Amino acid sequence: MVIRSITFTGSSPSLKLCPPPDHPEYAFTGRSNVGKSSLINMLTQRKNLARISSTPGKTQLINHFLINDAWYLADLPGYGYAKVGKEKRRSFRRLVTEYVLERSNLMSLFLLIDARHPVLANDHAFMDFLGNKGIPFVIAFTKTDKLSSNEMQKNLRRFREKTLERWEELPPLFLTSARKGTGREEILDFIEKSNEMFKKS
Ligand code: GTP
Ligand code: MG
Repeated sequence: MVIRSITFTGSSPSLKLCPPPDHPEYAFTGRSNVGKSSLINMLTQRKNLARISSTPGKTQLINHFLINDAWYLADLPGYGYAKVGKEKRRSFRRLVTEYVLERSNLMSLFLLIDARHPVLANDHAFMDFLGNKGIPFVIAFTKTDKLSSNEMQKNLRRFREKTLERWEELPPLFLTSARKGTGREEILDFIEKSNEMFKKS
């Protein structure tokens, strides 16, 4: 897929203020510092998208970008922030929960996990929540350039084991590096194929 155009369509503090669900949508989330902004920039090959998202205040909102006038990329607030208070964390969670449960055009949620330490309790708790609710999601391991391929294989194995303790199937997995551009084609192909399903449905 060639990215021809990107339009920032706004920041939404609640589901009902999100743009109308008239295009297929892919949402990105993960723990703070996981590399979300870097991955979004890498996929779109635009430097300032992430800047919009990281403007203080906007990080608690859902930022929508319309790509090629055909699909939405939604940048969701992260979770597991150590620095924010309990009240803020609760409001992030409320917003993300409402969004994933009710956003009718959501094709897949991209859950980003740092490839160096992929087995963290709150990532697995979030995956369990998504699985139980039947929300389609995929995993994107980030920063894979920071590991040797041996370490990567070892971490992947642990992740698989841990996930298959509770689930019969693994979600689709993408290995990414924002630094090297790894995974870009695979993710954009996946989105392109899913977009076709939106048209058919
Ligand atoms: P917050 O919005 O602050 O929660 O962080 P984020 O999830 O958007 O992460 P961000 O993209 O800002 O990246 C966090 C740090 O990881 C930065 O120092 C990045 O340069 C680094 N980083 C992100 N992706 C990669 C990657 O693929 N490879 C390497 N080596 N570093 C990365
Ligand atoms: Mg960010």
